[in-house]
Amino acid sequence: MRISVFGCGYLGAVHAAAMASLGHDVVGVDPDASKVGMLASGRPPFYEPDFAELLASSVAGGRLRFTADPAEAASAEVHFIAVGTPQRDDGGAELSYLEEAVATIAATLAPGSLVVGKSTVPVGTAAVLADRIEEAGGRLMWNPEFLREGFAVQDTLRPDRVVYGVRDGDDAEAVAMLDAVYAGVLSQGMPRIVTDLATAELVKVAANAFLATKISFINAMAEVAEVVGADVTQLADALGHDARIGRRFLNAGVGFGGGCLPKDIRAFRARAAELGVGDSLAFLGEVDRINLRRRDRVVQLATEMLGGSLAGRRIAVLGLAFKPDSDDVRDSPALEIASRLLEAGARVTATDPQAVETSRTRQPALDYRVVTADALADAELVILLTEWREFRELDPEEVGRTVAELRVIDGRNALDREAWRSAGWDYRALGRG
Ligand code: UDX
Repeated sequence: MRISVFGCGYLGAVHAAAMASLGHDVVGVDPDASKVGMLASGRPPFYEPDFAELLASSVAGGRLRFTADPAEAASAEVHFIAVGTPQRDDGGAELSYLEEAVATIAATLAPGSLVVGKSTVPVGTAAVLADRIEEAGGRLMWNPEFLREGFAVQDTLRPDRVVYGVRDGDDAEAVAMLDAVYAGVLSQGMPRIVTDLATAELVKVAANAFLATKISFINAMAEVAEVVGADVTQLADALGHDARIGRRFLNAGVGFGGGCLPKDIRAFRARAAELGVGDSLAFLGEVDRINLRRRDRVVQLATEMLGGSLAGRRIAVLGLAFKPDSDDVRDSPALEIASRLLEAGARVTATDPQAVETSRTRQPALDYRVVTADALADAELVILLTEWREFRELDPEEVGRTVAELRVIDGRNALDREAWRSAGWDYRALGRG
């Protein structure tokens, strides 16, 4: 099938390459000419495992192109919308990129074609957009995307469920068209839920609200555990054996960040308030506050460990990305903590296997090191903030020979505490007494 994908960020670029790998003829459209240039030559503009290979093979195979000119997408039978919906200053979602994409598609749409929204939107948005697309002779579906960065390719080609939102509940023709697009995915037998537009929009934000709540729940337990000398990681293990609770997303530490969870819970709250049900989601404000307090706690702990002041103290920060296997530093707890240590007068050397360049763009003032050993040299305190495998596997004896003082904060409960303590380190973590 002829497919277009509007918006070539983490979501759209991966989606476009994945659709091409299923055998479709795909064009990715993005106004950012430099991004388009990189993608068109088969080079990923961001780090995502397995994406480089998928992109290069699809571009080389002639099934995938990228352009800044939306006219090149006019002949597509299916248009996917994967543009960003970033956070506005008031917490709500900025929909101007989405509006622009819909206006562009509506202006050039071939009659009978299908428009499929994948972007995360405030509930109620799709119904308004559906009117515009129908006026232009097309039909709209909402098909939320649940991909995780670091697993984007896997999650796109082997999702754990597929959700279709359709206007009339039983628009069989639209459903059949999207089934044809996803035939190579659906043949693996994952559940496919067909519902109305509003439910489809809600599935995405509700899923992210739940995940954020789960993380903040365990981080709240970490706050209590710290006071009573309990161990939040053992608590999470014990809780996780209850199949109703489950162990995943119960890792306490510096909390959640990234381009989705923080902005989605804020936008969800803002939308609920507009709809007159603000009280229903008031708890998400608490989820957000617990999450942000974890960042304060690291700065406080560092200050305590260094005797009350950070001024002039040498701190090595391991990790800048919001999670491992990503170069994304949007709302990254790690980058924010590193910046706050710097503001408090510390001499911070920061490193990350992939996120040094993305961090430099947002925070040019930090002293970045590409090689971990350079960041660690002479440090009086080491702080692990993103649990990349390379950091988890550091040898405490070896690291001990390069630093000035054996002090470490494990911001992700990712290091082997006993090994670090027996190598002589003053090991501190969040939620472990
Ligand atoms: C999330 C959702 O998981 C995904 O389904 C949705 O499509 C987009 O948003 P992502 O932002 O890639 O995906 O990251 P995720 O793996 O959910 O992690 C989010 C944040 O939570 C990271 O900062 C991570 O470090 C943190 N986290 C995760 C914890 O602090 N503890 C955990 O137990 C799990």
